[in-house]
Amino acid sequence: MLKSHACGELRSSHIGQQVKLAGWVHRRRDHGGLIFIDIRDRSGVAQVVFNPATSQDAHKVADQFRNEWCVLVEGEVARRPAGTENKHLPTGEIEVIARRAEALNPSKVPPFYINEDQETDEFLRLKYRYLDIRRPAMREKLVLRHRIVKHMRDYLDAQGFIEVETPILTKSTPEGARDYLVPSRVQPGKFYALPQSPQQMKQLLMVAGMERYFQIARCFRDEDLRADRQPEFTQVDIEMSFVETEDILRLMEGMYTSLLETVTPDWKVVKPFPRYTYQDVMDRFGSDKPDLRFGMELRDVSDIMSQTTFQVFRSAIEAGGVVKGLAAPGCAGYTRKQVDELVELAKARGAKGMVTAAIASEASLEGLTMEQVRSPSARYVTVEQWKALAPRLGARPGDMMMFVGGPVRMANAVLGALRVEMGKRLKLADPNVMSFSFVVDFPLLEWNEEEKRWDAAHHPFTAPLDSDVALLEGQPGKVRAKSYDLVCNGCELASGSIRIHRRELQQAVFRALSYTDEETQAKFGHLLEAFEYGAPPHGGVAAGIDRTVMLLARAETIRDVIAFPKTQTAWDPLFDAPSVASERQLRELHLRIVEDEKPQGAA
Ligand code: AMO
Repeated sequence: MLKSHACGELRSSHIGQQVKLAGWVHRRRDHGGLIFIDIRDRSGVAQVVFNPATSQDAHKVADQFRNEWCVLVEGEVARRPAGTENKHLPTGEIEVIARRAEALNPSKVPPFYINEDQETDEFLRLKYRYLDIRRPAMREKLVLRHRIVKHMRDYLDAQGFIEVETPILTKSTPEGARDYLVPSRVQPGKFYALPQSPQQMKQLLMVAGMERYFQIARCFRDEDLRADRQPEFTQVDIEMSFVETEDILRLMEGMYTSLLETVTPDWKVVKPFPRYTYQDVMDRFGSDKPDLRFGMELRDVSDIMSQTTFQVFRSAIEAGGVVKGLAAPGCAGYTRKQVDELVELAKARGAKGMVTAAIASEASLEGLTMEQVRSPSARYVTVEQWKALAPRLGARPGDMMMFVGGPVRMANAVLGALRVEMGKRLKLADPNVMSFSFVVDFPLLEWNEEEKRWDAAHHPFTAPLDSDVALLEGQPGKVRAKSYDLVCNGCELASGSIRIHRRELQQAVFRALSYTDEETQAKFGHLLEAFEYGAPPHGGVAAGIDRTVMLLARAETIRDVIAFPKTQTAWDPLFDAPSVASERQLRELHLRIVEDEKPQGAA
């Protein structure tokens, strides 16, 4: 090894030892003839002192050193002079008195600061990702990711799970996104699809008798990207035979609690993880991934609003919709502008409008007067009705109530978004808590308005609740699924289900999804056939590793916990991928690029 010690490991116990350090120049300071250089490697930073009185040569070499040069230093560990210790640095009690120095490789001036946590354009950070990862904060995130994945592997291994790799070049496994396709050279005109998940493979491994499978699996999905979505991402993918929902939830709770206890013990975890049905979380939080670190629940106030003279709400209810509301604590003093912003947010989510009502802070709810309610719709609602509305929402003097009327889906979505926004603004969530919960009994199918047909809410291999199977033919929208999500702090971390393991039921679900028999055979014939060879009852789950690390590392986006992520346009600025293929490659793949046709009349 070119080095004897890691920079970050040096302590006062090393004083007097000769050490050889290698790393990067983190920071340099000249002090009246002395040069101080902080050398950084993966383990941390150590201070090295170059004194011409100790070694003229070393001092001369170090005089050339600039930030981010890769350097090697030899010297003796010494105690820092009294009063110059750095309590914030693990190596802050010692310094290395240099005897020899060597530049292993100089560095150009980096395009952004590496030794300071400065806001830097993300494009630059991605283009120079190898420099970005030199930043201690980024490096720590990757180290944490390693520890999390290692813990999961060890945990599952101890529970009798076997890791099996499954192919990347395969056939479409639908998870609701577009496929990435790879053209075949040897079979002209045919394409592989990259797996959106190893879903069918892991089910086939259950038919194959593996009983307990897992994989740290890469998944590929061509979908609209957001802060918590990447076109390729990693799951800890799990499947088990002879299990029911309860078994999988217990496994997940065990894996996540032991992960937090051992790898990131500074987080507070609420145990046991509470469970909610999908219906329950939609009604109460307006989201299937609620942030449960704070209350501010949605309440149905249709019964009270239908008695008012407020026509907009009355007609919403008469049309089969609802009026729901929530109370934002301490927001009675919101300005017109602040309220308008919230109304805009509501409209962006599909509401026609939103009604606010602020309760004066000096009011008492029992003795509430009309003057104490500030609302653009105050005159349509009697004081008795306001008195009934406030406690329904849990509103107190000084709070602002918000109401939205319309179809229940829309009202939930809008108020759910307002709840998240207000939670953020008012800092209602304890930043040190990981609030996990399981959401169960999702609907099996979702209506696709554009294509006028049913889609699988999770994926088409999910089993319906036994009690709901009979509804598949007549009322498919009412069928609930044996499916579950693990949710944490408003983020969907994992998703899974008990699967269908019999051919007839799987075919019935494909029919409900409007697949023709030919389509079913072409796409899923292999799976249906496998079910005819004694397929065991089975179920599983997949948790997003990137999202898990993002939450535990307090990162803003999953891009920050992926070594080489892609931008919002699925572009990798470092490699400049995707890029054009050569004529020869295209020819070999039997492909031709067709330029977009110009619209008629265009020049
Ligand atoms: P699902 O599609 O819900 O289920 O994915 C499971 C988990 O993977 C993560 N995830 C993503 N992370 C980053 N970027 C993305 N584009 C992305 N999409 C999903 C989420 C999500 O909860 N085969 C099923 C699992 C099963 O039924 O066992 C599946 O893939 O954390």
